[in-house]
Amino acid sequence: RDIPVFDMVIFGGTGDLAMRKLIPAMFQRERAGVLPDDGRIIASARNPMSREQYIAMVEAQAASYIPDAQRQEPAWQRFLQRLHYVAIDATKSEGYATLQETIGKANGKIRVFYLATSPKFFGAICKHLHGAGLVNERSHVVLEKPLGHDLDSSRAINAEVAQYFSEDQIYRIDHYLGKETVQNLLVLRFGNTLFESLWNQKYIDHIQITVAESIGVEGRAGFYDHTGALRDMVQNHLMQLLCFVAMEPPASLDANAVRDEKLKVLRSLKPLTMDDVKNNIIRGQYTAGAINGKTANSYRKEEGIEPESQTETFVALKMEIENWRWGNVPFYLRTGKRMAQRVSEIVVQFKSVPHSIFDNRSTGLEPNKLVIKIQPEEDITLMLCGKKPGTGTNVRPVELSLTASSEEHIPDAYERLLIDAIVGRQTLFMRRDELDAAWQWVMPILEGWNNGVGRVEPYVAGSWGPSGSAFLLARDNRHWYEDLS
Ligand code: BG6
Repeated sequence: RDIPVFDMVIFGGTGDLAMRKLIPAMFQRERAGVLPDDGRIIASARNPMSREQYIAMVEAQAASYIPDAQRQEPAWQRFLQRLHYVAIDATKSEGYATLQETIGKANGKIRVFYLATSPKFFGAICKHLHGAGLVNERSHVVLEKPLGHDLDSSRAINAEVAQYFSEDQIYRIDHYLGKETVQNLLVLRFGNTLFESLWNQKYIDHIQITVAESIGVEGRAGFYDHTGALRDMVQNHLMQLLCFVAMEPPASLDANAVRDEKLKVLRSLKPLTMDDVKNNIIRGQYTAGAINGKTANSYRKEEGIEPESQTETFVALKMEIENWRWGNVPFYLRTGKRMAQRVSEIVVQFKSVPHSIFDNRSTGLEPNKLVIKIQPEEDITLMLCGKKPGTGTNVRPVELSLTASSEEHIPDAYERLLIDAIVGRQTLFMRRDELDAAWQWVMPILEGWNNGVGRVEPYVAGSWGPSGSAFLLARDNRHWYEDLS
């Protein structure tokens, strides 16, 4: 679809996300030559600054996220011409009048208001945008996470935004859905007869979802210590991945068709009892260690973290989906900071063959696995069994790579999602009821932890998490896939 002429207003335009992700992503689209001539990016933040100063700031800060060679291309200068800057104090009406002047009365243009600020400003920004007459039927609002701190605060934010924007104008972003392999998962599942016919409790033993990071809190101590891994990663990114893996085939890629199916998954999750919170939810916090030969501080010694902090930097959990497709198939999820390596992957482990007819019985007869690697490189591998060359009939594991080897540019998640927000494709954005359902499921964990259920287990930075995480699977006679590598 052609990209219509747009004004994209980024609130939080001088912030980390804008510099690290949003500006570089839009520049890549510039290089691809798909942005319309009159498309503009209007950054906004509290400090007064001229347009030239903002451009200088982008040139200085974007340097680490855009290769030098690309900034030598004519596209870079063309891109800088799109940038504008308006100082706005989110909670006061004055700045919005200036924004109104900058945007003008160009009613035909798409307006995208990207709120990359703290969510406590979302309501005020929407109210003032509306008050300044900036919201029309061609206006979209993009809401960055975290969308709330718990169910109530998430509901309050959504209710405030809904006073000024209708649901089909609201784009709740989860950048994991913009990642190429995550969409490839949809093609794999629904573009092949092979997988979908096996994609159920008859053939699948269990599913693992891992999002491991080697980085720590990286200067976000204030935010992170107040948030923790459950809110930062599980409630959104991991549960969204779970939905894509587990949902029924949607009738089309239409936004509501897909989101209806994801919602059904969230509503089928087995609600947690306090016993589950105690036994099936592992929380960990890293202590001093080393990653790739570099020493790492303990979480509590990171700058800005409370010395007695109980915040979890790791979560592992076991989930069950109560429906016909997934009855008795556990889903094990884990995520953490300062883990052994950066790896995000989904492992679908099929059941073992019911009986072995081969020499040496079951040596080498591993159950089939489909490993969908999202990061650091994108890769899909099907692990099968083949014959070990020789005179006997011995079995050995063989791998079938389903990754198209390509030199093509793999777009960053934000490239895809920003364009979707401009052209009006909501399929990869979360609907209000989905967000609500995800928070509802997570709430017993937060309540349990608040009331002292379970405890924070230490794990050494550079390991695969606390022992409780390995035990969660060992108890079921299983193990995490990556730990063996
Ligand atoms: C963000 C979290 O949503 O996702 C960060 O707030 C985390 O804590 C990041 O590091 C991970 O994203 P990615 O794309 O680097 O895996």
